[in-house]
Amino acid sequence: MSFENLGPLPPDPMLGLIQRVAADPREGKIDLGVGVYQDANGRTPVYDSVQQAESRLCQTQSTKAYLGAGGNADYVEQLASHALGGHLGLQGLQTIGGTGALRLAAELLGRSQPERRIWIGLPTWTNHEPLLRAAGLQIIPRDLDDPAHGGLRHEALLDALREAPEGDAFLIQASGHNPTGVDPDPALWHAFADVAVARRLVPLVDLAYQGLGTGWREDVEPIAPLLERVPRLLIAYSCDKNFGLYRERVGALFYRGANAGETARVRDHLLAIARVSYSMPSDHGAAIVRTILADPNLRSGWRAELAAARDRVASVRATLAAHGRVGAVDFAALAAGRGLFARLPLAAPAIQRLHAEHAVYLAPGGRMNLAGLNANNLERFLAALEAAQRRSAA
Ligand code: LMR
Repeated sequence: MSFENLGPLPPDPMLGLIQRVAADPREGKIDLGVGVYQDANGRTPVYDSVQQAESRLCQTQSTKAYLGAGGNADYVEQLASHALGGHLGLQGLQTIGGTGALRLAAELLGRSQPERRIWIGLPTWTNHEPLLRAAGLQIIPRDLDDPAHGGLRHEALLDALREAPEGDAFLIQASGHNPTGVDPDPALWHAFADVAVARRLVPLVDLAYQGLGTGWREDVEPIAPLLERVPRLLIAYSCDKNFGLYRERVGALFYRGANAGETARVRDHLLAIARVSYSMPSDHGAAIVRTILADPNLRSGWRAELAAARDRVASVRATLAAHGRVGAVDFAALAAGRGLFARLPLAAPAIQRLHAEHAVYLAPGGRMNLAGLNANNLERFLAALEAAQRRSAA
């Protein structure tokens, strides 16, 4: 046996983009690709609150002995109470970023019901489908695209779920929808909770951008109907974006079974899946988050930094929305969205020209990270957008 049977693979659409941007030597390149926050100078900063927590950890941490497959329990407690506002019978474990939480959740869904089906609305984050498939789940995709309004027709997913067999799962993003920026409205969240209860479905909520959309509390309020009413629930949480800890990979998976015994068995299985996958998550990033959340001063400093990031992204959105139209792109549609992302209705050749001729990088499908724009590059971006569309049409 050898590795000769392994075929070539294309680069991952997002991680490949990071490398392409980094390798581009052109002055003034504009990175609107991967979803990381950038400040007004185009930097992705380490927050002051994070630096303070790190130096405190350096001075006070007395051991780095193993914690176990569930990671840092104190971090999970703090996060449950500050992010989700209480326990509602939810338990959690630390994971390797939000992606690690999604993968554990997917493995659990497969283990608990072989050939488990999971419904998923498209377009969505480029890694959702490959991840769920890698865990052996049967994906039922639903095209929800509504380019005219920039968002998704979530009603179509809801209608399909009303016919779903009992026990099916569905994936749904909580806030700052990736890639459209347009979330379901509050009435729809009630309807998703109704259908999950009626059909005994398991929602897998991807909560990766809390605090970067409308507000810290506001970004989880919409999922309250699920939290309050759906017996079996999984929430994949990421601290990578809201704490700016991307490469530290800080996440958690919150879960709940139909009763205490089931919840305990879910925990046992999640710990076992973690153990055979990576044994235990690394502690540093989670220790930073725990230190910040447990200290009122650090916490309020971090909340102010997060609010400033959110406000900056919202002001870029408002500036663009007021700009009107550039070729096929009607920026007024951006007003309906929140958070880092918006999707520009551009054909592939125009996206290609933006990369090749203007060093303007968008993610696949025309997703743009609004945080990549600032006062120094906005005009150049708009001019490039106009030129790339004109030349693609010629
Ligand atoms: C993104 O969508 O840009 C981020 O979630 C980064 C990633 O891992 O794809």
